[in-house]
Amino acid sequence: MNGVENEKKGTQAKNHLTPEEVDRILLENGELEQFDELMMYYDSAMVEVRTKLEVLNKEMTLKQRRNPFEYIKSRLKKSTSIYEKLVARDIPFTVENIEKNLNDIAGVRVICAFIDDIYGIRDALARQDDVEILQEKDYIASPKANGYRSLHIILRVPIYMSQEKKLMNVEVQFRTIAMDFWASVEHKMKYKKVIKNAESISEELKYSADMINQLDRRMLQIRDRIAESDEEILEEKQTQTPRTPIMPLRHPYSSD
Ligand code: GTP
Ligand code: MG
Repeated sequence: MNGVENEKKGTQAKNHLTPEEVDRILLENGELEQFDELMMYYDSAMVEVRTKLEVLNKEMTLKQRRNPFEYIKSRLKKSTSIYEKLVARDIPFTVENIEKNLNDIAGVRVICAFIDDIYGIRDALARQDDVEILQEKDYIASPKANGYRSLHIILRVPIYMSQEKKLMNVEVQFRTIAMDFWASVEHKMKYKKVIKNAESISEELKYSADMINQLDRRMLQIRDRIAESDEEILEEKQTQTPRTPIMPLRHPYSSD
C-alpha cells in the first residue's frame, strides 16, 4: 500500500467514533431528533426505489420471460460513517450538511445477470415521471484504473409524509453477478491496513476484472444465441406444411 493510502487510513482512524459518541454530538448540537427524522426519510426513499425496481422486475419477467435482475441489496449509511465522511471532507457535521453534501446515505445495489439489463432498468427508471437522475457514473463504459466496473446513478425520488412531500437522493449501483463478485473480493483488500504483495495482488485483480468483462460479454452472446435458436425453432414450426386437418370428434359408439 502506498504512503498516501496509509496517511488516509491514519486520518480515518483519528476520526473514528462509536455510534454513542456520534449521538452525543448530535444531542449537544440539539440535532438528534432532526437526524433521526432525516434517516427515516432516507429509509423511506430506499423503500420507494426498491418497490419501483420490484415492479419493473415483475413486468419484465412476465413480458420477457426472464428476470432483469437477480437480487437487490440496500443499506442505510451508519451515523459513524456519515460523521467520518463529512469530517474527512472538512465539512461541519450538521443535519443540513448531510443532506446537502452526501448522496449515498440511502444505497441500493441491483445485481443483474446480464450487462444489457443494467441499462434496460436504468432507462425504465429514467422514464418514470417522479424519478430524476441527478448524476450518472458509468464505470462499465469507463472502468476505474483498478478494474472496478459498475453503473452508479443518483436518483431523486419523492416520498410522501403525512403533511408534506420530500425529495430524497438515493444512490443506485448496478452490477452483474460477476462484477459484484470482483468488487467484494477487491473490497477485502482495500480495507486491510497491512497487506503483503499488494502490488501483485492489484495486478491480478486488474487482470481478473478484464477477464470478468470478457465473460460478461460472452454470457450475453450465449443468451442471445439461445434466444435466436428458440425463435428459429418457433418459426420452423409455424412455416411447416399445414398438418392434416383434425377430423371432427365422433363418439366411439355412434353408429354413423
Ligand atoms: P465515495 O462515495 O466517497 O467513495 O465517493 P464517490 O461517491 O465519488 O464514489 P463513487 O461513485 O466512485 O463510488 C461510490 C461507491 O462505489 C463506493 O462507496 C463503493 O461502494 C463503490 N466503489 C467505488 N469504487 C470502488 C472500487 O474501486 N472497489 C470497490 N470494491 N467498490 C467501489
Ligand atoms: Mg459513495
